[in-house]
Amino acid sequence: MRKVPFSNYPYLFKSNEDEFVKIFKEVGNRGAFILQKDLEEFEKNLAVFTGTNYAVGLANGTDAIWLALMAAGIDEGDEVIFTSHTYVATAAAIHFVGGTPVPADCRQDHMIDPDSVKKLITAKTKAILPTQLNGRCCEMDTLKSIADKNNLIIIEDAAQGLGAKYKNKGIGSFSKGATISFYPAKNLGSFGDGGAIVTNDSEMYEKVMLLRDHGRNKDGKFVLWGFNSRLDNLQAAFLNFKIGYYQKEISRRREIASIYQKQLSKIKKLLLPPAPNANTDYFDVYQNYEIEAENRDELKEFLKDKGIGTLIQWDGQPVHSIKSLGFSGTGLPYTETMYKKCLMLPMNTSLMDEDINYVCESIKQFYLNT
Ligand SMILES: Cc1ncc(COP(=O)(O)O)c(C=O)c1O
Repeated sequence: MRKVPFSNYPYLFKSNEDEFVKIFKEVGNRGAFILQKDLEEFEKNLAVFTGTNYAVGLANGTDAIWLALMAAGIDEGDEVIFTSHTYVATAAAIHFVGGTPVPADCRQDHMIDPDSVKKLITAKTKAILPTQLNGRCCEMDTLKSIADKNNLIIIEDAAQGLGAKYKNKGIGSFSKGATISFYPAKNLGSFGDGGAIVTNDSEMYEKVMLLRDHGRNKDGKFVLWGFNSRLDNLQAAFLNFKIGYYQKEISRRREIASIYQKQLSKIKKLLLPPAPNANTDYFDVYQNYEIEAENRDELKEFLKDKGIGTLIQWDGQPVHSIKSLGFSGTGLPYTETMYKKCLMLPMNTSLMDEDINYVCESIKQFYLNT
């Protein structure tokens, strides 16, 4: 039986093993482990790739959100509106600057719903933190006009959004700063944890540069209380190599999405993500291919028996359902219905067209029999 894994971590290394070993030896022999030229070079290339003025490499994507909020001045008691359809890390970052995370609903493309955001604004609201989810940007011009009207800051959680565009603009250009994750499962994955902030805002850049390195400036003077959240130089060296062919990987992901679209769009019991060329306002990079499926749990089991890995994002828990963290679990109708149906199909660059065709044929077979 064909096996189609949901993810393929060994492939991340094997796909360019010789180059990665060469980089490891070269960096190792230089003894260049913390805040070295490889990190600086990667930061320059990341800024160029995103079309922003600055990039700062950080320890992980969660720290990136936390430090961005801190640098933007989000403080004790401030309310920050975010989408419930995100990782708990988004809300945790708000919590750890002393803010109150206020979850909003999402809409059919699974992105934060601007109408839901509007309804949640109070006198205490200080920021909107949209997640550029599944490799797609939110409707950023509407969010920006809501923010401008209400004097709110926007920070983008773009952990899943590197390379995504809205109206020809990329992450980091819509807001005070966008935060990225290089967790191995991400489109641009490192061999461990990693993250970054990209921004056009010089104040944000300078503050995060200090915060990530114990509050120490270029002359070694401590100018504020800081943390240790530096991206490892070795990871930066790997990422610097990988960003060179990242655009090609995005193209492959978009090809896979096109195959899914072509093969599955006629099945009425499925809601597919927007197709790659469905709306020229959006350029999606398909970090995930998240569908909504009738009889989702049975479909998942059926595909498992066929050797096909699928995943329900965040173990089926939208953030507002996590009562142990103080959320109510109600009030976001689209999210609550969608979580009974959402399922991510295999989407990674180790997959051949035949693998995707096999997934599609299996799904068709399931719905023929139900
Ligand atoms: C939407 C979102 N936000 C935040 C994070 C946290 O990133 P990291 O795992 O690098 O801390 C992730 C990734 O897991 C994510 O998908």
